[in-house]
Amino acid sequence: MSDFSDTAKLLIDDKEIELNVYTGVEGDRAIDVTSLYKDHKLTTYDPSLGNTAICRSSITYIDGERGVLRYRGIPIEQFNRSKPNFIEVAWALIFGRLPDHEELGYFHDALTDNELLHEGLRNQFMALPVDAPPMAILSAMISMMACYHKEFLQLEDETSLLGAAARLISKVRTIAAFTHRRSAGLPFIYPDPNLRYCANFLHMMFSLPYKQFEVSEEMEDALNLVLILHADHEQNCSASAVRVVCSAQANLFASCSAGVNALWGPLHGGANVKVMEMLEMIYRGGHRPEECIAAAKDKNNQFRLFGFGHRVYRNYDPRAKILKTACDRLFSKLKHKDPLLDVARKLEELALRDPYFIERKLYPNVDFYSGILLRAMGIPTNMFTVMFAIGRLPGWIAQWKEQHFADGAKIIRPRQLYVGNPKSDYIEIEKR
Ligand code: SDX
Repeated sequence: MSDFSDTAKLLIDDKEIELNVYTGVEGDRAIDVTSLYKDHKLTTYDPSLGNTAICRSSITYIDGERGVLRYRGIPIEQFNRSKPNFIEVAWALIFGRLPDHEELGYFHDALTDNELLHEGLRNQFMALPVDAPPMAILSAMISMMACYHKEFLQLEDETSLLGAAARLISKVRTIAAFTHRRSAGLPFIYPDPNLRYCANFLHMMFSLPYKQFEVSEEMEDALNLVLILHADHEQNCSASAVRVVCSAQANLFASCSAGVNALWGPLHGGANVKVMEMLEMIYRGGHRPEECIAAAKDKNNQFRLFGFGHRVYRNYDPRAKILKTACDRLFSKLKHKDPLLDVARKLEELALRDPYFIERKLYPNVDFYSGILLRAMGIPTNMFTVMFAIGRLPGWIAQWKEQHFADGAKIIRPRQLYVGNPKSDYIEIEKR
């Protein structure tokens, strides 16, 4: 840990405890409580860890108040360029800087060389139910990669990490496409080594044995952008799950499988499916957007306005802004229309002028518009969270690498506040 920049004083039991204060690159400050229990038998209480920095990280920076998101210091808006490239962003997140031509070429080749599934892994895939939840398939298959790629269970240098990363990033795309094809009763379409990452995915999803799916540049660019916008987001729920599992010195496959399972939750990555169900319910079910807003505000109603609100952003999620304009761009180029986009816009308009949402600083998040873009590409709703996982995988790998190689990294093991029974005796069953 670098030198601390300041100190804080904690007064308890008439005792003054001096604590170090560290300052991050952007002025974010953290009080160091690492010795609080050892020296004072005190813990801090922060159940959802919303006030707790669990690591020092140089991967992604978010300023929630200002709606700022940067990957390795680069503002997210700068990746919204004419030819967005998910693979170069994946490299930057994992290795700390944008790749040069040679590195990018090498990475593309490594992804191409690792597109296929080991036949044993493919047989495991075929044993899963056809209608199994796609996220269950993905987490199971990533975990099973530890059985078929045992040479990557120990990663002690960047070369072996690159090998494992290439296998994961390439194969999750194949697993996702095969999952869709099998559930739709379609034959598998194998990767085409001449296609780049996103074009190859769309080819595997939508080509037919007798008819190659023509991937338009607009659609390939849109998918690169969607995956870039999902690539990392500092210590979100799934990235923290990856770090916790990694901290026990578990392998990369086990840690990323844990990330998939955390992402599956509807409060996290699963929200993009819930957003589409919500928009469909309004559009097809004859519910008015105003009813949705009212239900979301009703404390007696479980319903939430999915795609709205965020633990960190107290401003518009910059990713949602980019996705919203990307919808317009793709729709006009493909001459595509989707009534759900109009419903989403109406919901956003109503929420952004409603005191309930204004007071709580609830804005659209990454999940609010992403599904509409994926739907325009023909990707079925039940695959949306898998698409989030494909995008987030480089971020999980980067977080795993930072945790695994961090100086002095220890197992992550929080404490608790015990509120259970005081000491009590065993009671024989006859006396209960
Ligand atoms: C992602 O962390 C990340 O970075 C995640 C992510 C990433 O890239 O990894 O950005 C991806 O997960 C985005 C979020 C996707 N989830 C959803 O869209 C689900 C709907 N949103 C909410 O469930 C909620 O906003 C969370 C889970 C996202 C954040 O929850 P918090 O920070 O725990 O906030 P909270 O639940 O304490 O809410 C504070 C208040 C409460 O009202 P009061 O008790 O103060 O009266 O805001 C209300 C909440 O009821 N509220 C909502 C709401 N979100 C918060 N009310 C209605 N609809 C909502 N969507």
